[in-house]
Amino acid sequence: MAALGIGLIGTGYMGKCHAMAWNAVLPVFGDVEAPRLLHLAETSDERARQRASELGFEKATGDWRTFLDDPLVDVVSITTPNQFHAEMAIAALEAGKHVWCEKPMATALADAERMQEAAARSGKVAVLGYNYIQNPVIRHIRRLLSEGAIGEVNHVRIEMDEDFMADPTTPFSTRSALASGYGALDDFGVHPLSLLFTLFGHVESVVTDMVKPSEERPLSGGGARKVENHDVASVLMRMESGTSVVLMVNRAAWGRKGRIALQVFGSTGSILYDQERMNEFEIYQANGPTENQGFRKVLAGPYHQPYDRFVPAPGHSLGFNDLKVIECRELIAAIGGKPANLIDFKDGLRIERSVHAMAQSFADRGWVRVEA
Ligand SMILES: NC(=O)c1ccc[n+]([C@@H]2O[C@H](COP(=O)([O-])OP(=O)(O)OC[C@H]3O[C@@H](n4cnc5c(N)ncnc54)[C@H](O)[C@@H]3O)[C@@H](O)[C@H]2O)c1
Repeated sequence: MAALGIGLIGTGYMGKCHAMAWNAVLPVFGDVEAPRLLHLAETSDERARQRASELGFEKATGDWRTFLDDPLVDVVSITTPNQFHAEMAIAALEAGKHVWCEKPMATALADAERMQEAAARSGKVAVLGYNYIQNPVIRHIRRLLSEGAIGEVNHVRIEMDEDFMADPTTPFSTRSALASGYGALDDFGVHPLSLLFTLFGHVESVVTDMVKPSEERPLSGGGARKVENHDVASVLMRMESGTSVVLMVNRAAWGRKGRIALQVFGSTGSILYDQERMNEFEIYQANGPTENQGFRKVLAGPYHQPYDRFVPAPGHSLGFNDLKVIECRELIAAIGGKPANLIDFKDGLRIERSVHAMAQSFADRGWVRVEA
């Protein structure tokens, strides 16, 4: 396949992560053409120029629309705040580009639907940045589950906790405004939903409770403003497969920094995983003498592919940014018409619908079915 031309919009936390992935995908995997890092867009020409020189892009602009006309651009990486995703992704798709857009899809369900329609019309590859599903450990857990390593799965618990909203004195920001979303649910609850989708398929129905640990937050200029969304959500779910799931998300959980803790209980065993310790998992298999049974901790190694592409030695650990490199390799496969482990706009829309159903359930105080 010919070298892909890349345009990147946004160069914050995730923009840098995408840029590093585009730079690393050839050295790590060795089986792709070197992507051409053509255009980088930021909020001003000056900032764009500075970031382009740091991240290895040929051209810089303060107006992302200007590079959509360049026929050499094949893929647009969108790493701007959530409220810009719809406008940018739809424009890129309409300009005939493949799109790699950060999660969540959009702040409004109608926007996510428009994004999916634009993707379907374009025939281009349009995928979301659900990097946690790329962890070789998660891939291995999926294999173990499909091989029946813990029998019939009957109950799943998944919790995502961080503490960036835990301090009640943190000033009010757009994060606490309804315009930015429901709170923990769509801000990062979509990550555990991406794992659930990858391991167990789509959600069928939900019932939700939500909590506001802080009713109001101080304004930086003095005074206070009412918090409009919820930092904590607890959800009971039924998957289409019939599996019963408990999802808990909390962005005000002191001490938790990047926890996505998964517990899968089956008829003959259990599997445990936590993103804060992303290079290991635990498995309990109820066989052999009872007195010898217990959880075994398994460390990631080159046999959990594609770990081997990064380091040949087991137990030496991959990191967060490496997951983006794997996602990038999957995207190149998808663009080449090959099967890929990615969440596209179609499945991403189902995740968005699950989130909106959860919020609806909280408002209605009852179970809500997720639209297929
Ligand atoms: N996949 C993950 O694990 C993960 C982790 C964190 C954030 N995210 C998602 O990534 C996205 C970005 O989050 P972030 O933490 O990188 O934010 P950030 O604030 O660090 O970066 C956003 C960047 O976009 C730029 N930007 C804003 N408007 C722009 C415009 N009109 N044109 C060009 N550039 C513009 C900003 O200047 C900034 O550099 C969000 O959607 C977020 O939900 C994903």
